[in-house]
Amino acid sequence: MAVIIDGKEVAREKREQIKARVEELKKQGKSVGLAVIIVGENPASRVYVNNKKKGCLEVGIESFEYALPESTTEEELKALVEKLNNDDRVNGILCQLPLPKHINEDAVINTISPEKDVDAFHPQNVGHIMIGDYTFLPCTPAGIMEMLKFYNISVSGKKCVVIGRSNIVGKPMAMLLLKENGTVEICHSRTENLKNETLSADILVAAVGKTKFVTEDMVKQGAVVIDVGMNRDEDGKLCGDVDFINVEKKASYITPVPGGVGPMTITMLLENTVRAVEK
Ligand code: GUN
Repeated sequence: MAVIIDGKEVAREKREQIKARVEELKKQGKSVGLAVIIVGENPASRVYVNNKKKGCLEVGIESFEYALPESTTEEELKALVEKLNNDDRVNGILCQLPLPKHINEDAVINTISPEKDVDAFHPQNVGHIMIGDYTFLPCTPAGIMEMLKFYNISVSGKKCVVIGRSNIVGKPMAMLLLKENGTVEICHSRTENLKNETLSADILVAAVGKTKFVTEDMVKQGAVVIDVGMNRDEDGKLCGDVDFINVEKKASYITPVPGGVGPMTITMLLENTVRAVEK
């Protein structure tokens, strides 16, 4: 049976440290503020945004919500971002994705000042991640690295397989594992014989978006399995990409959903917001 990685516990410890740093900044007369933009009525985005605001409250970061209607134009959204770029109360700007289809996400991301880009989505920050000299950490991958560190799971020299090549998770995850000297492979929907690849993984990260996509037969005995999935099953219950009940028997460590990666993603957003002020 695997050790279950407790993302809530890792997040709690990390948030205590962040809270102390926010208090220290406040003593120096500095405020810490995060602007959170949400466009339209996507229910999942609403849950994420509420959790992000709750996280801010917990550590003493002031959050400013901008909830815009679905009909908002790209120009209007970019104008708001420009305004927030110049607002001294705002140290970080987060625009919740996905945006409605008529808005070009890249164009909006490119408008966010790289110094306030706490998601680390701006090409300038992506470049820093590629080089390995980043200020802002990509939230989900950085949260996963924190969990590995907390459980003393070494990455160096290990075969790491990431399933998923998104800009938000898959690609930056590969970069952070590489920085820690992992031997890294990215698999995706066009990968041939996926099982052959995943069976070689000492550390397997699933960021696919499909319930029970990773089954027991795809996992090496003793592997560390990290589940980034946030799916709903047929009963509407939150579940990941991994068939947890069966994979748990084979893995050495495994993250649950909920209570694994999710709390850490938000924690790293808070970390980035504090960093935006500290630097
Ligand atoms: N949508 C899904 N994940 C994220 C995230 O980490 N940041 C933002 N801004 N939108 C998202």
